[in-house]
Amino acid sequence: MLEKILVIGSNGQIGTELVTELRKNYGDSNVIACDIRRPDYDIKNAGPFEFVNVLEKDILNEIFRKYKPTQVYLLAALLSATGEQNPKLAWDLNMNGLLNVLDLAIEYKTARIYWPSSIAVFGPNSPKVQTPQYCVMDPNTVYGISKLAGERWCEYYFQRYGLDIRSIRYPGLISWKAAPGGGTTDYAIHIFHDALIKGSYKSFLSAETELPMMYMDDAIRGTIALMDAPAEKINIRSSYNLTGMSFTPEILADEIKKHIPNFTLGYTEFDPRQNIANSWPKSIDDSSAQADWGWKPEFDLSKMTADMLKNLKK
Ligand code: SER
Repeated sequence: MLEKILVIGSNGQIGTELVTELRKNYGDSNVIACDIRRPDYDIKNAGPFEFVNVLEKDILNEIFRKYKPTQVYLLAALLSATGEQNPKLAWDLNMNGLLNVLDLAIEYKTARIYWPSSIAVFGPNSPKVQTPQYCVMDPNTVYGISKLAGERWCEYYFQRYGLDIRSIRYPGLISWKAAPGGGTTDYAIHIFHDALIKGSYKSFLSAETELPMMYMDDAIRGTIALMDAPAEKINIRSSYNLTGMSFTPEILADEIKKHIPNFTLGYTEFDPRQNIANSWPKSIDDSSAQADWGWKPEFDLSKMTADMLKNLKK
């Protein structure tokens, strides 16, 4: 079948790389990049681009009518730290954006939808180590609340309307192509830039703050693998736990020192993002994704660090 794929939120950290990969697989003209902002690099030149605000349902409806997408990736969202600065906007965008897309997907019979969730769905009372797929979930950020509610909506639309929606709870995503969008795990990207430019970094998370992380190459590969899997393999219609590695700022700094021996890590004054990090898992059990659709990460801490530094140096 000829695929027509909408990627909404195409300018972000994930969208930037996902559009490139999907265009490789499906052809430039079959992947429509959509964002609220003009892309500042070559997405537009490589294929179709549309301005879209997911909260403007009429305009979104026009896009669905024009392209009749077979797949939609909805990536537009406010992340954890930015969300805390504007809780009502975060709720509105993350929730009503999702509901708008789900309703249009039913109306236009979109075959498959992808929507990302996050480790932010877990909270202070969730088990911290090897956090299981199913456990207590009491998120205390508006981002986490919106992602948990979104997961419930996804499962609801699957059960009630048969919508084929698939989702991953991403851990912190580390990448070099596009900047991260205001998350709690962003230190793990900033540290690489500062290591190369200044030889030192001040972390806003404390030395022993352990969080689950993943290299973007793995995230993109996993996302497309989930979307390509036969529907009968997808047993979870809320969102799959997924992880690549876990580390603290101190452990990451030690790894960077293997490449930049004089690198030094310091710490800022207390930052509110510390409270968010403290409420999240340290590591994730992703055995359901392994069993259902064959998930296996390729990048561990040392491979990721070497690749980040190699690419950022260029
Ligand atoms: N990286 C994200 C954040 O920090 C987690 O979903 O908000």
